[in-house]
Amino acid sequence: MTKIAVVIGSVREGRVTDKLAKWVAKEVAKVADVETLDLKDYPMPFFNEPIPPRYNPNRDLAPETKKWVEKMSSFEGYVIVTPEYNRSFPGVLKNALEMLDNGVVNKPVALVGHGSSGGAQAIASLRISLPGNGFVTLPNALFFKDSVGEAIDDDGIINAELQEGPMSPQNQLNDLATTLVKYAEALKTIQ
Ligand SMILES: Cc1cc2nc3c(=O)[nH]c(=O)nc-3n(C[C@H](O)[C@H](O)[C@H](O)COP(=O)(O)O)c2cc1C
Repeated sequence: MTKIAVVIGSVREGRVTDKLAKWVAKEVAKVADVETLDLKDYPMPFFNEPIPPRYNPNRDLAPETKKWVEKMSSFEGYVIVTPEYNRSFPGVLKNALEMLDNGVVNKPVALVGHGSSGGAQAIASLRISLPGNGFVTLPNALFFKDSVGEAIDDDGIINAELQEGPMSPQNQLNDLATTLVKYAEALKTIQ
């Protein structure tokens, strides 16, 4: 099965993005081999390298950064689940993206955002930023407008009313997951 990473974009105390990611991972696991990556497990320093990692094969990396970069390279596609902070995505996620090397080039990313406008500006900011790493972003994305805390339970199950109808978050996620796998398989031919 296609190897997909679900990345939790927040490390905040009391965060809810991990709950949203749990639902996402559960659904993506129906069509792919899924692992959830928590940036809390990769406490990296701030990026301070002299040149962009993509042009620097002989980098000397901190152990946590090396672990993150190698882990990310091992997947064939990604879902980034992000909150919106100050009309963009969290700085901790930007720092983590800065570290990546050619191991993610021409690999697809599906975006799931949440916030008062469904994380619209976080997703828009990621769409600008991710091609810099060489990622390919999917045309569709999931803008989760409901309160994550109320809509999803601790087991990652979404409320029944959000599972019904063609425009429901559940249906949109199913579509996003199957599209991501198709992109991952197709893009393998140009990696
Ligand atoms: C520093 C900060 C800035 C925020 N800025 C925005 C924003 O610009 N737009 C928005 O819709 N929500 C904003 N929010 C609300 C977050 O999207 C909301 O708290 C969400 O639950 C954060 O995800 P997390 O709980 O996983 O950290 C902000 C929250 C924080 C902590």
